[in-house]
Amino acid sequence: MRMYDIIVKKRDGEVLNKEEIYFFIEGYTKGEIPDYQASALTMAIYFQGMTAEETATLTQAMVDSGETIDLSGIEGHKVDKHSTGGVGDKVTFIVGPLVASVGVPVAKMSGRGLGHTGGTLDKLESIKGLEIEMSKEKFIQNVNEHKLAVAGQTGNLAPADKKLYALRDVTGTVDSMPLIAGSIMSKKLASGADSIVLDVKTGSGAFMKTLEDSEALAKEMVSIGSNLGRNTVAVISDMNQPLGFEVGNANEIKEAAEILQGKKVMDLRNLSLEIASHMTLLAEVFDTYEEAYEALEQNLENGKAFQALRTLVQAQGGDVNMIDNLDLLPQAKFDVEVKAEKDGYVSAIDAESIGVAAMYLGAGRATKEDQINHGVGITLKKKIGDKVRASEPLVVLHSDEQSPDASIQKVKEAYTISEEEVLAPELIHKVIK
Ligand code: URA
Repeated sequence: MRMYDIIVKKRDGEVLNKEEIYFFIEGYTKGEIPDYQASALTMAIYFQGMTAEETATLTQAMVDSGETIDLSGIEGHKVDKHSTGGVGDKVTFIVGPLVASVGVPVAKMSGRGLGHTGGTLDKLESIKGLEIEMSKEKFIQNVNEHKLAVAGQTGNLAPADKKLYALRDVTGTVDSMPLIAGSIMSKKLASGADSIVLDVKTGSGAFMKTLEDSEALAKEMVSIGSNLGRNTVAVISDMNQPLGFEVGNANEIKEAAEILQGKKVMDLRNLSLEIASHMTLLAEVFDTYEEAYEALEQNLENGKAFQALRTLVQAQGGDVNMIDNLDLLPQAKFDVEVKAEKDGYVSAIDAESIGVAAMYLGAGRATKEDQINHGVGITLKKKIGDKVRASEPLVVLHSDEQSPDASIQKVKEAYTISEEEVLAPELIHKVIK
C-alpha cells in the first residue's frame, strides 16, 4: 500500500477503507509517513469529508494507536461526561457527585487548563491536600467504594491524535468536522467508559460559534459513539456568556458546592441536572428522563449530592473543612470592581475575554509552565439581559494586585451595553441522541 494512492483516492472524493485508514494512522504514529503526506491527506479530508463509517474507523484507529484505560474492575455501568470547553464551566464538580449520589459510578479522568478555559484538576486543587495523582488500582478502588473519583490523565492515550492535531493546527485543517469529532472522541473512547454524555458548547465563547456547526459536530460525535458501541448523547448548551457567576478556581469550586447545597443559580443548576439526567438514563438507573431529573433534583435538596462531594474530597485526602466552610477556600488579597460606564441592558459578554481577564489575574496559564493562583478570579455581577446603571459593578475581580489594569481593560471590552432591552440566551439548545 502506498500513502500516495490513499491521498489521491481521498482527493478524488472516494471512500477510504479500513486497511487504508489504519495504514495511514499507524504509519504516521510510528513516524514512517512524513508530515507532508499526512497534511495532504488531512487537506483532502477537509475538502471531501468522510462518511460516518470512515470517521468511526479513523477514530478507532486513533484509539488503537496508544494505550486504553481498562475500567472493567469497576462494578456497574460507567458513564463519562465531556465538555468541549467553556468559561466558568464547573459542571463536572456538580454532575460527578450528583450522578454518584444515585449509585452510578463516575470514573473521571481530567486534564489541566491552558489559555482562557480552566482545567478541572487545577480547580480541584484549590482544596488543600486534595490529591489527583493516584495509581490505577487506587482510582478503581475509590470508584468502587465511593462511586466517584477524579484523577489526572495517565497513559499514552490516542498518540495519533496528539501528533495529527499538532499538524492540523499549522496546516489549516483543524476546522474539519470528521477530524474534530474523531479527535475528541478518540480521547474519550480511550478513557474506557461504557457510555458518554457530551456537553457541546455553542456561541461566542465556544470552539463552535454557531448552532448549526455545533449541531453538526454533536451529530458526528454521537454517530461515532454508536458506530463504536458506546451509547452517546450530546447536549448543545449556550456559551455566549460564562456559565454561572464565578470564573477562576476556588471561586468556581465554591459556586459548584453551593449548587450541591441547593442554591439556585439557575443556568448552572439546570445544565447540571440535564447532563446528570442523561448520564443516569444511559446507565439505565431510571426509565424516563422525568424520573431521573426529579430524583437528581431531590438529591440536591436533601444533601445527598453534597455529601457525595464531601466523600470525594475526603477520599482523595482533601481538607473537607474547606467544603463545609467555603470561606476557608483560597482567597485573593483585593476585590476590585469594574463598573458600567453607562445605563442600559447587558446585551453581550464575550466569554473568551472574561476567560483571558481571569488568566491575566493568574487563574489560568498562558504557557504550560505557569503556576495557577487558586484564590484569584472573577465574579460576574451582571449577565446578559440584566439592567444596569452607570457606575454599578459589572464584575468583581479577585486579585492579588491592587490595580489589575490588563484584566480591567479586558472585562470592559467583554461587556456590551445596549439601550434596548435584551433577552437572556436560551441555555439548552438541543439534545442529540
Ligand atoms: N479539540 C480537540 O480535542 N480536537 C480537535 O480537533 C478540536 C478541538
